[in-house]
Amino acid sequence: MARRCGRATSWLTGQIKIHPGKIATSAVWLCFCLLFPPAAEAGLYSSSDQVILLTPDNVQSVLINSTAAIVAEFYASWCGHCVAFSPLYKSLARDIKEWKPAVDLAAVDCAAEVNSKVCTGFGITGYPTIKFFHAYSKADSKGQAVKGFPREVRGLRHMIIDILETHAEPWPPACPPLEPTSQAEIESFFETNNVEHLALIFEEAKSYIGREVTLDLLQFENVAVRRVLGTEEDLVTKLQVTEFPSCYLYYPGGNFTRLKVKIEARAFYTYALQRLPGVVRSGKPPPVIVEVQTNNTEDSWRPFNMSRVYMADLESTLHYSLRVELAAHTIIRGEALVSLKKYTSVLTKYFPGRPVVMNLLRSMNCWLQNQTGDEILYEALKKILDNSALSPNTALPEGVRWVGCQGSQPHLRRYPCGVWTLFHVLTVQAKNVGGTDPQEVLRAMRSYVRSFFGCRPCAGHFENMARESMNEVNTLSSAVLWLWSRHNRVNNRLAGDLSEDPNFPKIQWPSPEMCPACHTVKNNGDHRWHNEQVLPFLLSYFSSGSILTDYLEDESQVLAKQREKHERQQQAIEAQQHGERKAREALDSMRPPLPSHATEQEEEEEDEGEEEEAMVDEEEEGGEGVVAADEIGGKTSEPTPWAKPEMEVGRGRRRAQGRPSIVGMRMREPQEDIVDLDSFVNQHYKAKAMQLAASSRVKQRTLQRKEEQEPVPVFGLGMELDAGLGMVGLQPMEEDFELDVGLQRKRLQKRELAGRYFNEEAELSHRGRWMSMLSIGFSNVDISLCVILYLMSSMCLLAMFLFFKNRHKLRRPKVALP
Ligand SMILES: Cc1cc2nc3c(=O)[nH]c(=O)nc-3n(C[C@H](O)[C@H](O)[C@H](O)COP(=O)(O)OP(=O)(O)OC[C@H]3O[C@@H](n4cnc5c(N)ncnc54)[C@H](O)[C@@H]3O)c2cc1C
Ligand SMILES: *[C@@H]1O[C@H](CO)[C@@H](O)[C@H](O)[C@H]1NC(C)=O
Ligand SMILES: *[C@@H]1O[C@H](CO)[C@@H](O)[C@H](O)[C@H]1NC(C)=O
Ligand SMILES: *[C@@H]1O[C@H](CO)[C@@H](O)[C@H](O)[C@H]1NC(C)=O
Repeated sequence: MARRCGRATSWLTGQIKIHPGKIATSAVWLCFCLLFPPAAEAGLYSSSDQVILLTPDNVQSVLINSTAAIVAEFYASWCGHCVAFSPLYKSLARDIKEWKPAVDLAAVDCAAEVNSKVCTGFGITGYPTIKFFHAYSKADSKGQAVKGFPREVRGLRHMIIDILETHAEPWPPACPPLEPTSQAEIESFFETNNVEHLALIFEEAKSYIGREVTLDLLQFENVAVRRVLGTEEDLVTKLQVTEFPSCYLYYPGGNFTRLKVKIEARAFYTYALQRLPGVVRSGKPPPVIVEVQTNNTEDSWRPFNMSRVYMADLESTLHYSLRVELAAHTIIRGEALVSLKKYTSVLTKYFPGRPVVMNLLRSMNCWLQNQTGDEILYEALKKILDNSALSPNTALPEGVRWVGCQGSQPHLRRYPCGVWTLFHVLTVQAKNVGGTDPQEVLRAMRSYVRSFFGCRPCAGHFENMARESMNEVNTLSSAVLWLWSRHNRVNNRLAGDLSEDPNFPKIQWPSPEMCPACHTVKNNGDHRWHNEQVLPFLLSYFSSGSILTDYLEDESQVLAKQREKHERQQQAIEAQQHGERKAREALDSMRPPLPSHATEQEEEEEDEGEEEEAMVDEEEEGGEGVVAADEIGGKTSEPTPWAKPEMEVGRGRRRAQGRPSIVGMRMREPQEDIVDLDSFVNQHYKAKAMQLAASSRVKQRTLQRKEEQEPVPVFGLGMELDAGLGMVGLQPMEEDFELDVGLQRKRLQKRELAGRYFNEEAELSHRGRWMSMLSIGFSNVDISLCVILYLMSSMCLLAMFLFFKNRHKLRRPKVALP
């Protein structure tokens, strides 16, 4: 079987390569579907870039009378300099994301004809042009053009601070004061400000760190940041400051401590200050002890180590993805089916799961790769997921049990957290196991997210990122790093968003506390990820060896639960079938008998379960029935037991599955794999007709049997007695009896030697004979009674006759003797 699957996998990759055009078309199609303004999508920026996309409709509301200052880029998408500048502008947007309430970034594509009025209105003649719009700009404001702006993020950031500092009144209300503070201000600080922490950044006059950190924390409550110049000698001596820059936490009463950071730089101050106790993002509820909050939810909080990966989260993600998210697609076809195959294939190869789960993934993969049609029905896949065939040691635990992905509210974290974790683990496993295709996992994730991920805007954002740079991934290591850095981009964009759990703030991950070596600074003091350190960190963090198995259900428990569920389902099906059969019988007994042919019966006989009522008919086939049973036995021993769904499923479903049960009929050649629809329909309707004709068939059978069985001496005795009275009236009783027998019989028994059938037949015939004899017996009694009554009445008459005759004789002599 392993070889089969291996072949199937290579076939899959082959097929993907054959249709790159198809995939590209779908990607383009998807862009259209993702609800972004078309003008924006056509330009250099997308909604994922944290840049406001200006259009004629929103330009007034964005630029005029805004509470934040706006930096706007006017560009033309055909201009090379603009194209070259756009990544920088995007980085800037990510870098100063926290400054948004004070100063925000916007862009407008002047090459788009719809925007030309906007651009000419602002007097734009060359590209790219950057204009600064003050807070509360007037409607006639043309903005302040920025000449010769720098072409690097740091310079742009400093430029923005410079312009902000010269901002005329009214000052953007969200923007904290940026000028250096004095000892006098600090001594009265806590009298006028209700904050817990005051951070003082000591620095040189030309340093921007203090102002940057001030702006970085403007969205956080309970903390204030001020810059102190080295020339503020009283404070410098009071706090014994020797290093510039350095950061001190100042408390009421003149207490102070130095803020400990790995490197004295903006990013490290920001990281540390945002995580101070009591510091929360504005508008967010303060982080609380999570146990208290989740106490009232249905499952209790599971304590966990925040710097570890839990298998319970990964299995929960698989459950949710395969049983909930996929279930939304009744039919999976085309591109979605390809996505599902890729996803399953990658899971099978790299998921570091427990043996039971791996067995299930493997069987799912085998089944999926064998589906050569263009579509499958989710119901069919569900049978594999639930292991309906009851393959040993195969199961995917049902339900979710979040651990590391628990949220402090039911709508936070959980599944999306699990999806990220799952794909990080898969990229790392691909690297550790030694995959061959560097982009394999990323492509699987991209197409899964595109086809199935329920959060559609998320899918759009992810697709934007993938389109931008995924094709640059050329090693397994760079795949690991790519996903990590894109995830950080999403974290950056979502920091402060509604979907952020206050207990699990979105940070640039891993934090300096978690991986100090991962963080470093460039020569200019800007933060830089130390990729040579990040990679080994990720490889070990997400490695299969460091995944914790806490809170997992025992394998045996999982299997037992699966068995129970299966049994419950079987019982439900049987109960349903029984009910249906009863209803049908009731119907049949009211219907006039239909003509039927003995040849039809052989098509029906190998169907399972409810078709058992046709069993008696097999007697007619004698030795032939044995051959049929052998053929079926051979078929079921094939390694795809799940290819035999129940009879009750609809016709459409059968077509969607590779090998519907109809193939198992003995009328078919064993090697045949494709269902002939015509013959299927024929058989289906014949079967239906035969169910309707059930009662008449039994009647006919008895008549045929009488003719056919006469040469067989075993049955001769009984059959002879059938001739004559009573049989028609007894038919329903006999059929009922057969049904009861059928219910108790196992399918396997049916496949035993024909001799068994003979025994059963003998038994049945015996009963029939007994019934016939009984009916004849009644007639005899009838006749005897008649005779007896007749004799009795005659005797009575005779007696009366003799009595009167004697009396007459006695009287006559008396009269004659005078
Ligand atoms: C493909 C995708 C796109 C999404 N797009 C959006 C969107 O556009 N808008 C939206 O509101 N939500 C989006 N989400 C959901 C969002 O990213 C979070 O998953 C969700 O808000 C839950 O956040 P979380 O706090 O559990 O952390 P998550 O971001 O889900 O991270 C889960 C865990 O992974 C670890 N981790 C964090 N960062 C990294 C990293 N860079 N590298 C490796 N590991 C890391 C941490 O341990 C963290 O707890 C998206 C999710 C996915 C999977
Ligand atoms: C600008 O906003 C202020 C308050 O935010 C409001 O009073 C004023 O009328 C607005 N002006 C214009 C021109 O919209
Ligand atoms: C939370 O539940 C635990 C037991 O489940 C209980 O001991 C504790 O008192 C509860 N806490 C609150 C705040 O209800
Ligand atoms: C959490 O895991 C980390 C990394 O393995 C470990 O160093 C730390 O001690 C753990 N913390 C707890 C509370 O177990």
